[in-house]
Amino acid sequence: MSTVQDALQALTDLTPGRQQLLADAVAGLSRAQRQLPSKYFYDAHGSRLFERITHTPEYYPTRTELALLDLVLPDIARRVGPHAHVVELGSGSGRKTARLLDALHQPVAYTPIEISRAALLSSIELLAPALPHVEMLPVCADFTRPVQVPLPTRPAARRLVFFPGSTLGNFAGDDAIALLRAMRQTMGADGLALIGIDLHKDPALIEAAYNDADGITAAFTLNLLTRLNREVGSDFDLQGFRHRARYSTARLRIETDLVSQYEQDVHLDGRTFHFQTGEPIRVEYSHKYTDASFDHLLQQAGLEVVAHWNASDPAYGLRLLRASAQ
Ligand code: AVJ
Repeated sequence: MSTVQDALQALTDLTPGRQQLLADAVAGLSRAQRQLPSKYFYDAHGSRLFERITHTPEYYPTRTELALLDLVLPDIARRVGPHAHVVELGSGSGRKTARLLDALHQPVAYTPIEISRAALLSSIELLAPALPHVEMLPVCADFTRPVQVPLPTRPAARRLVFFPGSTLGNFAGDDAIALLRAMRQTMGADGLALIGIDLHKDPALIEAAYNDADGITAAFTLNLLTRLNREVGSDFDLQGFRHRARYSTARLRIETDLVSQYEQDVHLDGRTFHFQTGEPIRVEYSHKYTDASFDHLLQQAGLEVVAHWNASDPAYGLRLLRASAQ
């Protein structure tokens, strides 16, 4: 029996602090092609805005993935087998996890690894009462750094790393490979990973998903500057930057920028950053995959596909992975 109380007792807190945020912001803004890490979108307000994005008519990935999961979860549960320890990267609200844990055969434990403490706590409040036989071992951390996964009281048969939502798409090139390699470590030799990937499709559909008519995505992107102003004392003019998300058919990815609307100075930690009119800060990538591009990534990370399921129209994929013999 595990309660919300037990879960909070077990909480490991490794949330990046103000110093880390400041160092990352200064480093990113000092580059010729300015950039800020997308993981900092997810403060309490940002996580709520992201939840709202997933309910917009334009943002197809979440509802497509949920429908596909419902269809294939019995198959996944059979392949994973009983007594798994589920470890989720960037667990957010926990909406998808509830269905996964419900479908699996007697999962012993669940470890959400989530950078937003607020999102982590509210997901535990949702899941712990609904799944009293699953030991909740939450970790508040940046999952791009090595994380010690807590050991369950009852031993698990294997680990299942759950990485839905096409969050992998937020990582470019070597970062994506490093993350997949870390995942391989986390799942262990006899573990599995279940990953959701958004697939390449009509660019107009993809672009619409990142430019919803109500401007929730724009607010989500701009919240990054609000957060910096509040937490590290920068003076970004929120009227002075605009959200822009465009699909690159050459690179198969959404490239999201905050574009300076006029020539201006931004101050941060005693430094001045000068912006030209039209100068962008790159704040996010959302890669879309083909079977070939995804397999190429897996190969470089020492992973292979055990089973795959695709939704069509809009195209979206789930892949069950294992470590390949190396
Ligand atoms: C965090 C990967 C689910 O890239 O599609 C949504 C974040 N950004 N709209 C994505 C996001 C803008 C999202 N994921």
